[in-house]
Amino acid sequence: MLTEPEMSSAHLLTPASLKKRPMAVSSPSLGHHSGPRVYIETFGCQMNEYDTELLRALLKARGFQFTSEGNEADVVLFNTCAIRENAHNRLYGHLAEFKRAKQERGIVIGVLGCMAQNLKKDLLEERPFIDVLVGPDGYRRLPDLLTDALEYDKRGLAVDLSESETYDDVVPDRAEGINGWIAVMRGCDNFCSFCVVPYTRGRERSRDPKGILEEVRRLADQGVRQITLLGQNVNSFRYEQWDFAKLLVRVADIPGIQRVRFMSPHPKDFPPALIEAVAEHPHICRHIHLPLQSGNDRILERMGRCYTQLDYLKLVEVIQRKGAITLTTDIICGFCGETEDEFQDTLKVMHAVEFQAAYVFKYSERKHTIAARKYPDDVPDQIKGQRANQLVEWQKQMSLQKNRSLIGQTVEVMVEGHSKKSSSQWMGHNEANVTVVWDQSDEPSPVGALVPVLIDDASPSTLFGHLSS
Ligand code: SAH
Ligand code: SF4
Ligand code: F3S
Repeated sequence: MLTEPEMSSAHLLTPASLKKRPMAVSSPSLGHHSGPRVYIETFGCQMNEYDTELLRALLKARGFQFTSEGNEADVVLFNTCAIRENAHNRLYGHLAEFKRAKQERGIVIGVLGCMAQNLKKDLLEERPFIDVLVGPDGYRRLPDLLTDALEYDKRGLAVDLSESETYDDVVPDRAEGINGWIAVMRGCDNFCSFCVVPYTRGRERSRDPKGILEEVRRLADQGVRQITLLGQNVNSFRYEQWDFAKLLVRVADIPGIQRVRFMSPHPKDFPPALIEAVAEHPHICRHIHLPLQSGNDRILERMGRCYTQLDYLKLVEVIQRKGAITLTTDIICGFCGETEDEFQDTLKVMHAVEFQAAYVFKYSERKHTIAARKYPDDVPDQIKGQRANQLVEWQKQMSLQKNRSLIGQTVEVMVEGHSKKSSSQWMGHNEANVTVVWDQSDEPSPVGALVPVLIDDASPSTLFGHLSS
């Protein structure tokens, strides 16, 4: 791990280095609070949201406090994402905002997560107002690095990747609610050519199932009713005699847990036992997110996805033979060298499968990846945009058609709370994870309950209805 003393070239140390700065503890504005106040913003995927819960636990144990107001904080942390260029741009916008606060109030600024790991020292050198830079495997070092930054104006770096860190003993500090997310593994060994994740999150490692099941039991006791198990490729989950299907079933068996979801399986090695579990277990949602990325064999080969269009379609057929299992997907358009005909193959697969939802991305070249080294990013941005629009428009029609087909039917919904728009309306999700909004002005159903909603209207993203008696 490269820590401050090792990276102490002069330009990495602030002029005030080693000069003691008053700790937030002595700030009169802190009232009864005893530790420095931390504000955290999280970007990126669910895994990052989960990591923020781990970070909060690690910081809380060392006396740090939290605030939801950036302008009250002594420490501002960004848990970042590096998956596409726009994730970077968003961070730079936010950093600029807090750079001013640093000049005015002397706050400590930390950049954590995938972008910290990806850019490492470059980021610290280019942005001298960043005090602390910590990658996804270095979070245990964060409390010390922040303390050094607060007390001595020391800059700190923890960007070594680990082959074993799973934070198994850290109990995440999560917000209350009925939804719980749990990382069952970390890292990724797939090295899809477009993807930065294997570089930002390092080698794949699975957590001990005992710890995972314990975490689920604790969440169930706290009132969590829906669990989402997270991993970059859950199919590669392995721990002694355990595979992912076994883990999923054991999680779904825990009393109090009504619904279990998972993200994401890889189409190249989808195990039959996992399809069986999704089809059969009453608490496992009949919904599979199955990232396609492209429907063309040459592009799939270049992407290093290890399946063909036919493999993907055959897998979909096997899944669909098991009855009504909802499928959603991720697509990248405008990958290196993608021709119009090759793009049309993606559209063809979308027509054939009829996904419930598709997350469509324009290819964004990432430093260090195989694609960045091997292939020119030669599809003009305008063409990428046109292709993305075409997919999005088609998907919108498909989602609308699917949602409309539910009009007149009753769906089972987990109650999550009031809808954003009205206090006489409630919202939740059905098993396929589609948002459902319903009218209910009399006795409200408790949050976390499963209620029957009769659907009487639909948009591409939402089902509307009323409580069915
Ligand atoms: N591990 C997950 C993917 C996580 S990243 C999986 O394999 O399913 C989420 C999605 O971001 C990917 O499925 C892909 O569609 C998209 N993505 C990843 N890298 C990208 C890049 N360089 N440009 C555009 N989209 C990208
Ligand atoms: Fe990235 Fe592929 Fe790993 Fe998913 S499976 S995180 S797309 S390298
Ligand atoms: Fe997630 Fe973004 Fe990292 S999608 S794994 S936070 S690069």
